[in-house]
Amino acid sequence: MEKNMDIELSSMFVIFGGTGDLTKRKLIPAVFSLMHEGKLSEDFTIVCIGRREKTTEQYRAEMHEYVKEFSRFPLNSKSWENFIKRVFYKNFDFTSNNQGYKDLDLFLETMENEYSTKGNRLYYLAVAPEFFEGIIRNLKNNNMVCKSIGWQRVMIEKPFGSNLKTARILNNNISKLIPEEDIFRIDHYLGKEMIQNILAIRFGNSLFEPLWNSNYIDNIQITSNELIGVENRGAYYENTGILKDMLQNHLLQMLTMIAMEPPVDFDPESIRDEKVKVLRSLRPFTTASLKEDIVRGQYGSGTINEVKVVGYRQEERVSRESKTDTFIAIKTYIDNFRFGGVPIYIRAGKRMDTKSTEIVIQFKKLAGINYYKEFDQIGSNLLVLKIQPQEGFYFQINAKKPGNNFKMEKVELDYCQSCKYLNNSPEAYERLLLEAIRNNSSLFTRWDELEYSWKFIESIEKGYENDVSDYPNYAAGTPGPTGAVDLIEKDGRQWWNTGI
Ligand code: BG6
Repeated sequence: MEKNMDIELSSMFVIFGGTGDLTKRKLIPAVFSLMHEGKLSEDFTIVCIGRREKTTEQYRAEMHEYVKEFSRFPLNSKSWENFIKRVFYKNFDFTSNNQGYKDLDLFLETMENEYSTKGNRLYYLAVAPEFFEGIIRNLKNNNMVCKSIGWQRVMIEKPFGSNLKTARILNNNISKLIPEEDIFRIDHYLGKEMIQNILAIRFGNSLFEPLWNSNYIDNIQITSNELIGVENRGAYYENTGILKDMLQNHLLQMLTMIAMEPPVDFDPESIRDEKVKVLRSLRPFTTASLKEDIVRGQYGSGTINEVKVVGYRQEERVSRESKTDTFIAIKTYIDNFRFGGVPIYIRAGKRMDTKSTEIVIQFKKLAGINYYKEFDQIGSNLLVLKIQPQEGFYFQINAKKPGNNFKMEKVELDYCQSCKYLNNSPEAYERLLLEAIRNNSSLFTRWDELEYSWKFIESIEKGYENDVSDYPNYAAGTPGPTGAVDLIEKDGRQWWNTGI
């Protein structure tokens, strides 16, 4: 039943950057899973474009390993055959001139005719950001977008610009070439199951929504810990650091979902209108708050899962004196009527002691709670949204401990989504691809969201002019710099290291 309803329009998926990591680890396995579940049209065709010389046969053979390792479903010969016959490799230098693109277009048209994809093309720019504009310009100049038949959409990976100024220039230039509704700017966190669940939990429960404000919420904490370091992306990371790699996009996006007002409708524009208001209300950093409310860090060598790992400065293509941050913790505020005065603590780090992304809503204690002496040890009510790797949420409440004495204890009402829907939750990239084909842009970032998030980041980056002298300041495999603990403890609060 679901299978038929979900079969999408015939279309061709054209990936620029067909030999890159993202394509191999995420995009190809995502398309395989979608096909396996019967979510794509029988006509769906994938053209992977790369600069390296190779045949389609060679490319297909290489993809086998990646699909086996990274897709949600086990490979069998039937599902593999069914999928891989739809995958083609095209050797093409995307920095080439018009004639190159004309040839590419001819190739795509031939494929279109053969596989009846009706002119519908989803271009995916899985390439370094400096190539985005050039590719789109070439697509436009060669009538490969905004055509009179079918639809053509362009999916753009992050980072979109490297600061407010460059993001604005990029956007201005691109928007002269293709309309906003054909641009799908990716933040893959928006495709995560539990991020979408935030709207359901908030707006579907009379238990939470009436309490979702500064009268009842004491503070909000967003944590994204990773075990991995910068892997083979040292050169990229040297230019972004965690500020632009995680905070500017994924973490602020999570915050908008937690803090937005109920949208008038669940259509893309209404949702994004509300998210923008949150970003506009974020309090920019000042000289004083830059000193008080931000803690930065960089990992040194250490041990992760009993394996010794090198420090950031020893990673490939990283300067031995690098000042780049691999950890950040901030305290900020949303200056609006709902959340005025509620501190928001956000932290993210690479090479930490766990892999976990969580959002904690800590509710205020009841006024006068200590009236009963038996209650003086009780904990705060916490709503913990477990984004990954475990999906689910739990609510921490206080209850009487069984026994003859009236003693209190903290208990959890726990919903383990990963236990209930074993292996059934689509990967973020599966969902995003499907939604782009369906023309649903609510899971993609609109330009004004980006603009305001860059403005906020700009206010932080000003503080980066102050030199950092003590890097590395945390060992790999630990919970990060001690300053991050002080950041919250000086307010009489604590990080909830839940991870249950
Ligand atoms: C990417 C960042 O956007 O997100 C990476 O560039 C980071 O540095 C990754 O590791 C984290 O994504 P996830 O889905 O593993 O939490």
